[in-house]
Amino acid sequence: MSIQGNAVMALKEILQPLSLLERLHYLVQTFQDEIVFSTSFGLEDQVISHLIFKNQLPIRVFTLDTGRQFQETYDTWQRTLDLYQGKIEVYFPDNQAITQLVQQQGVNGFYESVENRQACCGVRKVELLKRALSKQRIWITGIRAAQSANRSQMPFLEWDDSFQLIKFHPLMDWTFEQVKSYVHEQKIPYNPLHDKGFVSIGCAPCTRAIEAGEDFRAGRWWWEMDAKKECGLHIVPKKQF
Ligand code: ADX
Ligand code: SF4
Repeated sequence: MSIQGNAVMALKEILQPLSLLERLHYLVQTFQDEIVFSTSFGLEDQVISHLIFKNQLPIRVFTLDTGRQFQETYDTWQRTLDLYQGKIEVYFPDNQAITQLVQQQGVNGFYESVENRQACCGVRKVELLKRALSKQRIWITGIRAAQSANRSQMPFLEWDDSFQLIKFHPLMDWTFEQVKSYVHEQKIPYNPLHDKGFVSIGCAPCTRAIEAGEDFRAGRWWWEMDAKKECGLHIVPKKQF
C-alpha cells in the first residue's frame, strides 16, 4: 500500500469510533490550518456549516461561484452568513478562461455535447477548486453514499490523488431523511428549492427538480443519458490535470 494509503488507514482507525463532532475536533487539532470545507449550500452542506459555525471550529469554509447558480442558492448563502456571522470564502472563474469558453461554445454551449459540458465545469468549477484546495491536507465535503451508485462505493475517508489530499465525508452514512430531519430540528437555513422537488442542486441551467421514484441525481445534467453525472469536482477527467 502507498504511503498515503497507510496514512488514511491509520487516520480512519482513529476516527471510526468517534462521533461526528469528535471527528471534526480531532481533525482540527491534527491538521490545524490545513483543513477546508467546500459548500454549495445544499442540504448536506448546510448541516456541516452549522456544525462548524455553531462550534466555532477553525475550518476554512469556501464556495465556488460558477456564475450560473440559482437566485435561491445565493439567498441561502446570504442567510447563512447572516445567521452564523461566519466567514465563507468565495472563488470565481478566471476572467480570461471564462471569456474564451463563452466565445468558443456560446453562453449555453454545455447543452450541445458532453465535451462542452465538461469544459464548462472545468472552467467554472474544477479550476477554482484547484486553487481553493492548494496547500491543504484535509477536504471536507457533503457527499453521502446514497446519492449515487458511484458514491455508494466511497469510504468516509479517502485519499484524493487528483488534489493530493485526504477527503473527509462526515455525512457519508446519513440518509436524506436524516439530513432533512436534522435541518428542521436545528432550524438550519436551507435552499427553498428543496421544497420544490430539487434534491441535488448545482448550476441553474443544469439542474431540474426530480419526480417521485427518480434517481437522486436525475435532475443534474438531465439531458445526458449515458454520461456519468459528475462535474469533475469529485471525479476529475484525466485531461484536466
Ligand atoms: S457535484 O460534483 O455533483 O457538483 P454535488 O453537488 O453532489 O457535487 O456536491 C457534493 C459536494 O461537493 C458538496 O457537498 C460540496 O462539498 C462540494 N461542492 C459541490 N459544488 C460546490 C460548489 N459550487 N462550491 C463548493 N463546493 C461544492
Ligand atoms: Fe457549466 Fe452546467 Fe457545469 Fe455549471 S453545471 S459549470 S453551467 S456545465
